[in-house]
Amino acid sequence: MRIMPNDLEAHWMPFTSNKHFKTGHTRMMTEGKGIVYKTYQGHELIDAVSGLFCSPLGHARPEIADAVHKQLLEMSYCPPFQHGHPSAFELARRISQLLPGNLDYVFYGSSGSEAVETTLKIALLYHRVKGEGQRLRLVGREKGYHGVNFGGFSVGGMVKNREMYGLGIPGVVHMRHTNIPENKYARDEGAHGVELAEDLQRLCDTYGGDTIAACIVEPVGGSVGAYLPPKGYLKRLREICDEHGILLIFDEVITGFGRTGNPFGANTYEVQPDMITMAKAMTNGAIPMSAVGVGEHIYKTIVDAAPEKGVDFFHGYTYSGHPAACAAGLATLDIFEKEDMFGRAKALSNPFLDRFFDLKDLPIVTNMRGVGLLAAIDLAPDGAPGTRGYQAVMDLYDKGVLVKVTGDTVMLSPAFICEESDLDRIFETLRGVLSGY
Ligand SMILES: Cc1ncc(COP(=O)(O)O)c(C=O)c1O
Repeated sequence: MRIMPNDLEAHWMPFTSNKHFKTGHTRMMTEGKGIVYKTYQGHELIDAVSGLFCSPLGHARPEIADAVHKQLLEMSYCPPFQHGHPSAFELARRISQLLPGNLDYVFYGSSGSEAVETTLKIALLYHRVKGEGQRLRLVGREKGYHGVNFGGFSVGGMVKNREMYGLGIPGVVHMRHTNIPENKYARDEGAHGVELAEDLQRLCDTYGGDTIAACIVEPVGGSVGAYLPPKGYLKRLREICDEHGILLIFDEVITGFGRTGNPFGANTYEVQPDMITMAKAMTNGAIPMSAVGVGEHIYKTIVDAAPEKGVDFFHGYTYSGHPAACAAGLATLDIFEKEDMFGRAKALSNPFLDRFFDLKDLPIVTNMRGVGLLAAIDLAPDGAPGTRGYQAVMDLYDKGVLVKVTGDTVMLSPAFICEESDLDRIFETLRGVLSGY
C-alpha cells in the first residue's frame, strides 16, 4: 500500500513511542530496494542498519522473492511435527556446513527470541538426559539482549526490557558486561578486561559449577551497542565452561551470517560454542526465520536417549522450518555464495570502520566501538537518558539516513552490498547531524 492509511490507531507498534508516531511523526516506509528505502512522501533514506541488522544483501532481492513465490505455489505449508519437506533438510545441511566445529544440527524457529528459548530448553534437557538434572541455573550477562520472551529477557540484562515484567524465570544469574572505560574507542575487540570472564568462575564458586546448565552471551553485544569482547574473554569463558561441564551458547542473531567479517562471531573470535542462535540475515529479512545450530554431542545425547517411536524433544513451533522461510533461506545462501558476500563483508570492514572512527573528533561523541560491519557511537546525553538518541534518529531520518538507536547510542550495520560511495554519503550525513549538537 503506497498511500497513508486513514487510521493509524489499531496497530500497536512494537518498541515504539505509539503516541509520538501517531501524532504527526509518522515514519511510514513504502518501498525498499537495495540500500534505499522510500517513505510515503517519496523521501529517500539510505539504510545504514540493514533494516534491523536483517538485510545484508539489500532489500527486495528478486531471487528471494521468486524462490518464495515458487514455493508458496508448490506447497505453502507443511506440518513440521512428524512431517518434513525437502527444503528444510537442504537448508539445515547447508547451514550446518557454514557453522563452526561440530554444530551439525539445526533446529528452526521464526524469531531470534524463539531461537534463544530453544537453546535454553535444549540445555536443560541435555543435562537431564545425561543424569545431571540438578543443572538448572542459567548464566547470562548484564546488558545482554536475548529477545523478549521470558527465558530470553531473564538471561538478558537490558533493564527496560525486564523491569516491568516480574521476576523472570528462576535460577538465572548474571556476569558483568564487558563495556569498560579502559576499552574506549575499541576496534574488533577490547584490549582490557579478560578478567571479566572470571565472573563465571565466581558464579561456579558461589552456586556450584555443577548446578549451572548453560552460559549464554552474544559474542558482540548487538542491540545494546556493539559491546566488544575483551581479548581472550570468550576463550576464557569456554575454558571455564569446559572445566565445569557448562554449555556455552553464543547468541548470534545479529552477528551471524557475516556481520563481524566471518560467517559467525565464533569464527571471528575463534571460540567454539555448543550452540549458536541465528535469525535476521538468515533469510535476508525477507521471511521471519531463526535457527539454533546444535553440537553433535547434544543432538546425539538427546535423540539417542529417546524411545524408538517417542518424541525426543517436546518443543517446536507451528512455523518451524516453514516452506516459504526455507525457500528464502536457500535463496539467501545462494546469493551469499554467488556474490561472495562473506568476502565482501570482510573487504568492506576497513573502509567502513576507518570512516566510522573519523567521527571521533565530534564533541558530542563520548565513545565508539566497531567490528566487521557493526558499529556504535555513544552520544553525550541531553537531559533524560535516551533523549539525545531519539533526537538523533529523527534528525538522521529527516536528512535521509536510517540508523538504529538504543538509549543515546547510535548503531550502524550497513548492507554488505554497499559501495564506498554509499558509506561516504552515510558518514557525511552523520557528521552533519552530529556536529549540530
Ligand atoms: C542477540 C539477539 N538475540 C535475540 C534477539 C531477538 O530476536 P527477535 O526480535 O527476532 O525475536 C535479537 C534481536 O535483535 C538479538 O539481537
